[in-house]
Amino acid sequence: MHKKLFIPGPTEVKADVLEKMATPMIGHRGKEATELQRNISDKIRTLFHTDEAILLSTSSGSGLMEGAVRSCTMKRAAVFSVGAFGTRWYEMAQANNVPADLFEVEWGSATGPEKVDEVLSTGQYDLITITHNETSSGLMNPVEEIAGVMAKYPKVIYCLDTVSSMGGTKIEVDKLGVDICITSTQKALGLPPGMAICSFSRKAIERAKEVPYRGYYLDLLSLYDYIQKKDYQYPSTPSLSHMFALDYQLDRILEEGMDKRFQRHNEMADEVRNWARRNFALFADERYLSNTLTTISNNKGIDVGALNKELGARGYQISNGYGKMKDKTFRIAHMGDCTVEEIKELLANIDDILK
Ligand SMILES: Cc1ncc(COP(=O)(O)O)c(C=O)c1O
Repeated sequence: MHKKLFIPGPTEVKADVLEKMATPMIGHRGKEATELQRNISDKIRTLFHTDEAILLSTSSGSGLMEGAVRSCTMKRAAVFSVGAFGTRWYEMAQANNVPADLFEVEWGSATGPEKVDEVLSTGQYDLITITHNETSSGLMNPVEEIAGVMAKYPKVIYCLDTVSSMGGTKIEVDKLGVDICITSTQKALGLPPGMAICSFSRKAIERAKEVPYRGYYLDLLSLYDYIQKKDYQYPSTPSLSHMFALDYQLDRILEEGMDKRFQRHNEMADEVRNWARRNFALFADERYLSNTLTTISNNKGIDVGALNKELGARGYQISNGYGKMKDKTFRIAHMGDCTVEEIKELLANIDDILK
């Protein structure tokens, strides 16, 4: 039996979207590939609210995160972390010999704009990384406030991880002053894993030109240069299957209407939060709760593994806590093409199992 996924990625993929993955192959150097990749990039610009270049990468989101920090740091990167995925960016910098400092807060807290200001005012950094939606703690950072601070530092490249939020909540990339906004297909976009997408601003392009060792496969500048020269085609063979599905799913998203889609995410989030408040407690700071997943404090000490096993027998799957919070929290994702009715059905099943 297929278990309906309420885990924070991969998420459920609609049958008609999945079918697009089985589209017969086309040559990746032909006009059809150019057209496919151009169409995707145009629609992504609409979704991202950006006029900047779009890069598609046959990797998961981590690939573009690593590519971004390596391709665009000249001096030193300031990595702001609110959980496991923020810290991953620091590990990537270290693994690539990119000078970086890590600024962490306790899981469940947000990156404060005043902290970003304090760090950047030292003049030591020329790139920052922020996690928009931290999938370990269920926290969404106050990116509008951070944008206010970033306006004071026009030479600093701003990288934003929207892996678990893009497609589930409004993110106005250009208005926020983000230079490299990264997402993956397998979360709020509702596609299979295996492809990553980012915006790449003119400012980031100019910076990358100054960086001598940007790697090879994930060198954002070489990807950008290639799609300019070859009309949206990529240097190596991309996952065309993902492209077919992504192109189709972007039409579905735009047909649903972005505002309607984000509203549906808000309604699903409200359902789960209210249920969590009634039955357990919310893990993250109430002021910065994620719209796409909820991390719930397991203050009753329930056996999440046993709950998930029973849920599995009924055709559902939720997620335990991430890393060090494995047993202390559990997570319910409400993103992608999931509906409020499906969330209610899941919660009713959990109630029934726990009663
Ligand atoms: C917030 C966040 N950033 C980065 C990643 C890494 O993305 P990927 O698994 O697509 O490499 C994840 C994956 O769960 C994530 O949730």
